[in-house]
Amino acid sequence: MFRLRPEARAAVRVTVDGRDVSVPEGASAAAAVLLAGADAIRQTPVTGAPRLPYCMMGVCFDCLAEIDGVPNRQACMVPVREGMVIACQRGARVIDPEAA
Ligand code: FES
Repeated sequence: MFRLRPEARAAVRVTVDGRDVSVPEGASAAAAVLLAGADAIRQTPVTGAPRLPYCMMGVCFDCLAEIDGVPNRQACMVPVREGMVIACQRGARVIDPEAA
């Protein structure tokens, strides 16, 4: 459904739920999710309903994902970098009391 504009140069390689995808430098992690053709980037905590990025400007929170092992990141607010690992967040974030 989503694809790069012809003039865009894919320069950064990231992984989205195990799929390698090339995205333009400066694109967001949410854009990488859409380019990867993912079915969902998060599942709601109550019903498990699948969600994908929607507003792409930090308002809807439907893009919450685990990015480089850190949960609850707004993927539309995070620029991609080489080797970034983006994973689907299932349910609510698990808080590790040892990490505090
Ligand atoms: S897509 Fe809406 S907050 Fe990220």
